[in-house]
Amino acid sequence: MDGELYRKLYKMAKDAAVNAYAPFSHFHVGAALLAKDGRIFTGVNVENSSYGVTICAERTALVKAVSEGAREFTAIAVVSQDGDAWPCGVCRQMLYEFSPEMLVISGNDEEHPEIVTLKTLLPYGFRLDK
Ligand code: THU
Repeated sequence: MDGELYRKLYKMAKDAAVNAYAPFSHFHVGAALLAKDGRIFTGVNVENSSYGVTICAERTALVKAVSEGAREFTAIAVVSQDGDAWPCGVCRQMLYEFSPEMLVISGNDEEHPEIVTLKTLLPYGFRLDK
C-alpha cells in the first residue's frame, strides 16, 4: 500500500470526525476503514448520557462495514484533532477478530501519518478458530 492511500484514509478519518457525537468528552474521533474489496467505511464516536454505552469511531466503522458484507480489512485510519487517538483495547480486539494483519494509521501529521500493524498494538491477540 502506498503513501497516497495512507494519506487518503487519514484525510477521510479526519473529515469524518466532524460528525462525532462527543458532548461529554469533547474528544471528537473519526475513523476510515479500508476493506480488501476496496470499499472504505467511515465511523465516528457516538457518546451517550449513560457513559458506558458510548461506541468508539473504530467500532462504528467496523460495524458499518460488517453489516454491509465486508469482512476482511487492509487498514484503518483513526484521527482526532483533540489529541492522540490510537485505538483503545476494546477496538483492537474487535478489529483483530476480522483482520489481525491490518495496518493502523494515526498520528498528528496529515502528510506523514504514523503506521503500525494491529499485531504490534495487540500482541498475542485472542481469536477462536472458525
Ligand atoms: N475514542 C474513540 O472513538 N476512539 C479512540 O481511539 C479513542 C477514544 C472515543 C471514545 C469517547 O467517546 C472519547 O473518544 C473519549 O474517550
